[in-house]
Amino acid sequence: MKRIAVLASGQGTNLQAIIDASERNELAGVVVIVISNCAAAHALKRAETHRIKALFIDPSAYSSRESYDRAVVEKLREAEVDLVVLAGYMRLLSAFFVESFPLRIMNIHPSLLPAFPGTDGIQQAYDYGVKVTGCTVHFVDRGLDSGPVIVQEAVPVIQQETVATLEQRIHAAEHRIYPTAIDLFCRDKLRVEGRRCYIVDK
Ligand code: GRF
Repeated sequence: MKRIAVLASGQGTNLQAIIDASERNELAGVVVIVISNCAAAHALKRAETHRIKALFIDPSAYSSRESYDRAVVEKLREAEVDLVVLAGYMRLLSAFFVESFPLRIMNIHPSLLPAFPGTDGIQQAYDYGVKVTGCTVHFVDRGLDSGPVIVQEAVPVIQQETVATLEQRIHAAEHRIYPTAIDLFCRDKLRVEGRRCYIVDK
């Protein structure tokens, strides 16, 4: 069983999907710690409900991004995690953080990368008028939403729909592909060569 950390700033619906998959034995890993930069993050409550260690680390207590990240990395090391999962974690990671866990940090982004990176990926795609958007799980590198792509799911944009209904369908897709990507990692089925992430049989 791989040991998973989830970093989240908000609602934590992806965290919930990951916990649920793990509790249904659909994941070769277990969430051992949830860390948030927001005291009020509902994600922390979800972790507590499932008796998972939940930590709020207050950014205002640190003078720089790197000193904050050093504190987070220390907690991740103490928890002996194999994989760091970003699930709505609204902070850019420092180079120090990224280099502490090479190809062991995943993120989920609500668009088909490399289209519409950054904040508001769903709104950006909606405003652009694309016919298909979706979501992407990728490894985190030092760029913004730029690391090797692990899994993507396409979501069609329905004519006349609102951004709210599009968002619901993208979130539903996220809750499918994030546990899938994490399980592949936990089973050592991901091999990265350059930009390409291959799914391999061991
Ligand atoms: C998701 O849309 C994810 O793609 C983005 O942040 C959102 C997190 O939602 N990175 P939740 O907190 O998991 O509900």
